[in-house]
This record gives sequence, structure tokens and C-alpha cells, in this order.
Amino acid sequence: MIRPHTDTTTVGLIGRIKRRQLLRAGFLTGTLLATLELTAIVVPFFRVNKITGLGAKIGVGPKADILARFKSANDIPILNVEGKFFLLHAPGGVIAAYRKCTHLGCSVPFNDGEDQFHCPCHGSLYDKHTAVVKGGPAPKPLQLFHIAADASGTLTVDTNPLNVIDRQANVWDPKVLEITE
Ligand code: FES
Repeated sequence: MIRPHTDTTTVGLIGRIKRRQLLRAGFLTGTLLATLELTAIVVPFFRVNKITGLGAKIGVGPKADILARFKSANDIPILNVEGKFFLLHAPGGVIAAYRKCTHLGCSVPFNDGEDQFHCPCHGSLYDKHTAVVKGGPAPKPLQLFHIAADASGTLTVDTNPLNVIDRQANVWDPKVLEITE
């Protein structure tokens, strides 16, 4: 049952109006604070942190320097530890091979004595110039990262593992070459 206000004077009416305004202001302030708090919690989830290492775009220097290094060192693949790839002197250009074994994912080192990649886990072998399989249980060649060159000839390797060149056939296909000599 709603009880009528007993104070019907002007002073009583003003008091009731002020109380209502006060309650409304309190409610709005509470809602605003809750919204701000929620925003502070949610916003960091949408912010992209700076990516380093695997997943980042990694500069590897001028193409001319890389080719000169291959020439002076019997085409030994150039390891980039941070980006988990090797630069290879492929027939007619440069490719970047993701060093994750296509058998069960071990990190593949280059074996200087054998002059080929040799996976320590189950013995898969990969070619030094093309990273196609030469032996062992690996089902396909090492995946390749995309490489881009800027106007000055400086190369950048995109190490995003979700954007690799995934070769199914175990043969060298020149179509994968993005950086030619
Ligand atoms: S993980 Fe490389 S051969 Fe098995």
C-alpha cells in the first residue's frame, strides 16, 4: 500500500525532489564506475603486443651480402636462431626454411660434416639447397617462410607459422622462389 506523503508543504516537496536527484546521481555514478572498471579489464585483451622471434617479420640484411656469404662458405645455410629458420641458397635464389622437422616437429640442425640437414630425433635428412627430404621418416620438405625485398634489396622473412609455404611433393619446385638472384 502506498502511503501518501504527510508533509505537503513546499519545503517537504523540495526535500523529496532533492532526494530523488541524489539517488539518480548516485545510480549514474555507480554505473559509470562499473563501466570504466569493465573497460579497464577488457581492453588489454584486444591490444596486440609487439611480437618478437618466431611469428615476427625479421630483417636479414641485403640480398647481395647473403649471396656473398653463400659464395664464400660453400653455400652453408645461414641460421637465424631468433626466427627459427635457415636461409638457403636455392637454385636461382634465396629461400627461408622453417627448421621444424615435418616428421614430429623437432628442431633440425645443419650437419656440416654430412653437408645436409639431419634431424636428431629420428634421423630425417633434408637437402642443403632446397630442404626436400633425402631420407628418414619425414613426409615432406621443410616448410618455407615468405621473404620480401624492399627497394634497396634488403630482405625480410615473415616467420608467421600460420602463413608458411607448405610443400606436399618432395621435389624442388622453382615456383616457391620469391627472391631470385
Ligand atoms: S622429428 Fe625429425 S625425424 Fe622425427
